[in-house]
Amino acid sequence: MELSYENDDKLSELLSINDELNHIKDIDSLLDAILSKTRRLTNADAGSIFLVENSTLNFSYVQNDTLRQRDPLNNKQIYSNFSIPIDEKSIAGYVALKGTSLNIGDVHKLDDTVPYSFNSSFDEIAGYYTQSMMAIPLITTRSQVIGVMQIINAKNERGNTIPFKESDEKYINFFAGSATSAIEKAKMTREMILRMIKMAELRDPKETGAHVNRVASYSIELFQRWAELNSLNNKKIKNYKDILRISAMLHDVGKVAISDLILKKPGRLDEGQFKVMKTHAYQGAKLFRGNVSDLDALCYEIAYTHHERWDGKGYPRRLKGDNIPLSGRIVALADVYDALISSRVYKPAWNEQDVIETLEKEAGHHFDPELVEIFFSIYDVIKAIRSKFPDKEQNI
Ligand code: C2E
Ligand code: SIN
Ligand code: SIN
Ligand code: SIN
Ligand code: FE
Ligand code: FE
Repeated sequence: MELSYENDDKLSELLSINDELNHIKDIDSLLDAILSKTRRLTNADAGSIFLVENSTLNFSYVQNDTLRQRDPLNNKQIYSNFSIPIDEKSIAGYVALKGTSLNIGDVHKLDDTVPYSFNSSFDEIAGYYTQSMMAIPLITTRSQVIGVMQIINAKNERGNTIPFKESDEKYINFFAGSATSAIEKAKMTREMILRMIKMAELRDPKETGAHVNRVASYSIELFQRWAELNSLNNKKIKNYKDILRISAMLHDVGKVAISDLILKKPGRLDEGQFKVMKTHAYQGAKLFRGNVSDLDALCYEIAYTHHERWDGKGYPRRLKGDNIPLSGRIVALADVYDALISSRVYKPAWNEQDVIETLEKEAGHHFDPELVEIFFSIYDVIKAIRSKFPDKEQNI
């Protein structure tokens, strides 16, 4: 590597990255941070990350400046749901299979001798044109490939697409090591949380991780839009989203204290049973009492307040309006939407029109009216989340 002012800068940035990545708890926040940093180091317009699950590459995260500028409200790309096999036929598949990076000047002018080809279907759906690409394997210290990062369309000062520099390849391969160990850690955290949830409420075979993933994703998107409208700064938004996803997933963890007789009852609960069921909010909060971290504090807040109502008729404390923390107002809306639109042991799924009408009718009664408005302004993202996490029997 030749040393220049520019390279010096990059080296110091690289050294600080390890520390920074290791403080992020949530896997989606982490993938977002990894792509932001990689793209800044290489001046890339777009990037995506695939993670290996069940021996295939699962599309896991994307950033795209061009598409984001075209439609700032539309964040549904990150909820795309597809996977590609680990074989020589695709660029990402090849990189995962061989464990080596590729630096391609123009994906539309690949050499006849290479086994892989560029799949343009994502471009076609999104209305994007991929030209230069660097694809880097994410390899653990045990030489296991856990994913592939692709960065797309390097830009020069005039904004024209150019190939990625060879010097960038070295930096990014180095960076990929830190990124990989942070991803492994965040995946472990996610798995631990899903096990906790399974213990608490998935004693009911119909309730799976898909529900909590949906509630958490709706919550993240509601918060993102709310924060933009209320001019929160970017760093605050990112830090809050990191802990919001995990805390939203755990909103019902207090159901661990509810007996199977009540939790799994196929029909309506009687008055006494419902009284017991309502204790799950406080039981959940109790688990996080002590507030040793921001994450604990938010888990506490959400477990405690996700059944409060805007009009003050909720439980357990009958808080009203703005006295209900924002997180509780967000999860209340996300949770009820998901409960109505899905089937439960005690009720079939409602049809979509009835659910929409109910949310509209309950704005200012059950729900914060500003949040209901935001909810419908991002409704296509909400639907993308539903199709990313469909209900199915799954082993987590
Ligand atoms: P959940 O299934 O996650 O439902 C969350 C919330 O969605 C409910 O909070 C309620 O506000 C709303 N919701 C869900 N389904 C319906 C519905 O069919 N009609 C109406 N009006 N609202 C609905 P809620 O009522 O405080 O219940 C908390 C939890 O208690 C529920 O979580 C569920 O686990 C349990 N639960 C509530 N009612 C029954 C029931 O009749 N039978 C059984 N087995 N469990 C129930
Ligand atoms: C679950 O279904 O177990 C979690 C989602 C929800 O509380 O509605
Ligand atoms: C934090 O509060 O976000 C950091 C402390 C931790 O949970 O480890
Ligand atoms: C609610 O949001 O309060 C429940 C929905 C309904 O009116 O049935
Ligand atoms: Fe609840
Ligand atoms: Fe719930």
